[in-house]
Amino acid sequence: MCGIFAYLNYLTPKSRQEVLDLLVTGLKRLEYRGYDSTGVAIDSPDNENIVMVKRTGKVKVLEEAIQEHFSGGEYSKPVLTHVGIAHTRWATHGVPCERNSHPHRSDDGNGFVVVHNGIITNYNDVKTFLAKRGYEFESDTDTEVFAKLVHHLWKTHPTYSFRELVEQAILQVEGAFAIAVKSKYFPGECVASRRSSPLLVGIKTKTRLATDHIPILYGKDEKKLSPDQDIRPHGQSRELPVLPRSESTSEFMPLEEKEVEYFFASDASAVIEHTNRVIYLEDDDVAAVRDGTLSIHRLKKSLDDPHAREITTLKMEIQQIMKGNYDYFMQKEIFEQPDSVVNTMRGRVRFDGNAIVLGGIKDYIPEIKRCRRLMLIGCGTSYHSAVATRQLLEELTELPVMVELASDFLDRNTPIFRDDVCFFISQSGETADTLMALRYCKQRGALIVGITNTVGSSICRESHCGVHINAGPEIGVASTKAYTSQFISLVMFALVMSEDRLSLQQRRLEILQALSNLADQIRAVLQLDSKVQELAKDLYQHKSLLIMGRGYNFATCLEGALKVKELTYMHSEGIMAGELKHGPLALVDDSMPVLMIVLRDPVYVKCMNALQQVTSRKGCPIIICEEGDEETKAFSSRHLEIPRTVDCLQGILTVIPMQLLSYHIAVLRGCDVDCPRNLAKSVTVE
Ligand code: F6R
Repeated sequence: MCGIFAYLNYLTPKSRQEVLDLLVTGLKRLEYRGYDSTGVAIDSPDNENIVMVKRTGKVKVLEEAIQEHFSGGEYSKPVLTHVGIAHTRWATHGVPCERNSHPHRSDDGNGFVVVHNGIITNYNDVKTFLAKRGYEFESDTDTEVFAKLVHHLWKTHPTYSFRELVEQAILQVEGAFAIAVKSKYFPGECVASRRSSPLLVGIKTKTRLATDHIPILYGKDEKKLSPDQDIRPHGQSRELPVLPRSESTSEFMPLEEKEVEYFFASDASAVIEHTNRVIYLEDDDVAAVRDGTLSIHRLKKSLDDPHAREITTLKMEIQQIMKGNYDYFMQKEIFEQPDSVVNTMRGRVRFDGNAIVLGGIKDYIPEIKRCRRLMLIGCGTSYHSAVATRQLLEELTELPVMVELASDFLDRNTPIFRDDVCFFISQSGETADTLMALRYCKQRGALIVGITNTVGSSICRESHCGVHINAGPEIGVASTKAYTSQFISLVMFALVMSEDRLSLQQRRLEILQALSNLADQIRAVLQLDSKVQELAKDLYQHKSLLIMGRGYNFATCLEGALKVKELTYMHSEGIMAGELKHGPLALVDDSMPVLMIVLRDPVYVKCMNALQQVTSRKGCPIIICEEGDEETKAFSSRHLEIPRTVDCLQGILTVIPMQLLSYHIAVLRGCDVDCPRNLAKSVTVE
């Protein structure tokens, strides 16, 4: 979804051109989140104004426009202190076009400019309020109201600091957002805040920081506006009430550095090449930089608030977010899986002692063992990892296991009890539906376990305990290595739960043994790449692809079909082979492309039965089968042979050909592999 990148240099000379380069590079790092237009704002050379460039389409288009507008002359002169803000927009309110692109401005004079992620739900009320005060709107967005609201507050409360103006504006808006604001009236200052949408601040100094904590400051008066004073109800025309101006009180000193650079970004991949020292902002934090000093303020004080925000050291390396020798991030991430699955198990699985320790949940295992049921909740690919491991979890935990799509779970107001254990599976850790389902279950007293790939994400922070899947940054919008690592994390959890069950020891050993061979077997499957590419050539001009399987491989059918749909825009359907006779068989004829997964496991005979049903309708399926399985191969001239592994891990090996197939079809169809149309990496709206 939308991406924010803002940069502030204090006493570190940089030309405007350099600042623009930094902003554009920051946006490029956020491209993977999905977007349809872009924009930047910097100071004009005379420092009297703010200039903006916005473009529909890719960051590359913006970069070209910047080169055209801002090269040489005044733009190459260094300035000691400067603030630039930039944005990639994923359209929610209003079509993708320059007028709707961010930054949005407060007035013709560009007094305040704002970049924003998320949705301001009461923007119509705020708009009505401002329109009655003479503000004219130039975009269809919800964001524009924020810029104009800050401007209105500035006019009516001239003594307020920049941070206070933004705080007052935030108190008036509802919804989910991350924002960064720049103003020509407050040069060298930047104010940023978040509510339910991620935002972090990167800090770069020449010398190591004197502190690892930034104290949190509170205003003297934390009184909330009462609803009858507020503009929110019905947007009636009345003056906007504003809290009394307050000096912040704190026994701590905010972070003060002489030469410093700050980076505000939606995620760490945009700052890692500049600094690995970051602060993850929490909901309702307001981060303000003035005279090179960063301070963090809270809009509301609650009892469990810490006194300070910790500066975290990112473990990520810049190479991890570069494409290297690959053509696409997705391709790189598919080929990283031999390593990423090992990273998921690293330090957790001891193959010599057959022991597994999941440090993030070990203290909760006794409580989990006493639970009424396990609920696995997620969206899209993350949900499929739950489908893939459900059977093993049922077998090894001997508990009822429910798998739920977060959106449907919420729609149903599903009953949740205090003795439920709810797993929230999410690569980004920010998916709005999953996060809301988490809050729903937490309010009802369930134990919350997060399974995420993004350290510091909202799901991480709001879970009672959890497992980081450690797959490394996933940049391609289509999830690949996160899926296999989520899968392994849930398998490890099942193994932990069955540690003391004597009757299950043989099964556990078999799975542990298979886990130890997994990386090599994934390498072997990846060798099928050129064969898969040939199959893609047969398929890419078709309109549809049916993917059939059952048992442990049903999840691969769902996940494979999702990959094909999202990357190639072809229709594809994952079909439970047991359901063939109940409808889908009508689709099969000699022209319908079908792929079937038929492995030597307890449902082999049933799968063969389905295969025969397809071939006797003149279907000519591509078969994924086990190496050397001549009997199965005999049913078709097109097959992919994968190494034999234990039944419950087959899904990891069978999903890789599906990832490769969708990737190759997408390339052949000329689709944008890393940023499929209409999709976003991190879906932070419902
Ligand atoms: C598909 C894909 C999506 C995500 C879904 C949930 O390739 O990436 O289906 O899996 O949007 O996202 P996370 O895992 O970040 O919660």
